[in-house]
Amino acid sequence: MKKLSASLMCADLLNLEASVKELQSAGIDYLHIDIMDGDFVPNITMGFDTVNSIRKITDLPLDIHMMVREPNRFIDCMELSEQDILCVHYEADTHIHRTLEQIRKKGVKAGLAINPSTPVDSIKYLTDYIDMLLVMTVSPGFAGQKLFSAAERKTRDAREMLDSMGLNIPIEVDGNISLVNGEKLSVCGAEIFVLGTSSLFVRDKSLAEAARDFRSVI
Ligand code: DX5
Ligand code: ZN
Repeated sequence: MKKLSASLMCADLLNLEASVKELQSAGIDYLHIDIMDGDFVPNITMGFDTVNSIRKITDLPLDIHMMVREPNRFIDCMELSEQDILCVHYEADTHIHRTLEQIRKKGVKAGLAINPSTPVDSIKYLTDYIDMLLVMTVSPGFAGQKLFSAAERKTRDAREMLDSMGLNIPIEVDGNISLVNGEKLSVCGAEIFVLGTSSLFVRDKSLAEAARDFRSVI
């Protein structure tokens, strides 16, 4: 079942509670919360207090994307529920295996994100420790970028690798997921789509209309 994950960094940050409620009514499956430290990526967005506040006002699962160096330092700063996914970057953690174990010990799903230049092969010894693979389709850190040229090929390679291992670990794609890109990446095997300024938070549609249009192409 394909899932839509709304990128809250693209929402109306001055009316976040209203945005969360509207996303819930629009039938969004996950709330994608980008946490950035200004070090692993050259940007800073929402912090852990915001995560904990959002957790309290919705039943939607949180899809937390930690673009943070050595994320193990911060895992216990968030009060999460078992339906939430905590996703860390392969490139940002000296002991990524230990961090993934730590996330699961917290009773939360563990996600592993890989940047555009990181080979899919890099994670093949970690598949026992993850519940989702996030294939970044832009360089992480900013909304409004363009898909990197090998995004489709890489998503297909990731699906083929996981399938060859007999694993149905879902692949999430994040970055410039427009209707056109979403349709192509869905064919390549993507199952969870991070929707931001390229498809969901657009001037000429309500969130519900935009979500419905996106669902119609995947
Ligand atoms: C990228 C962010 C996003 C995403 C936003 O680092 O994680 O959430 O790019 O969506 P777009 O790319 O459509 O503005
Ligand atoms: Zn993200």
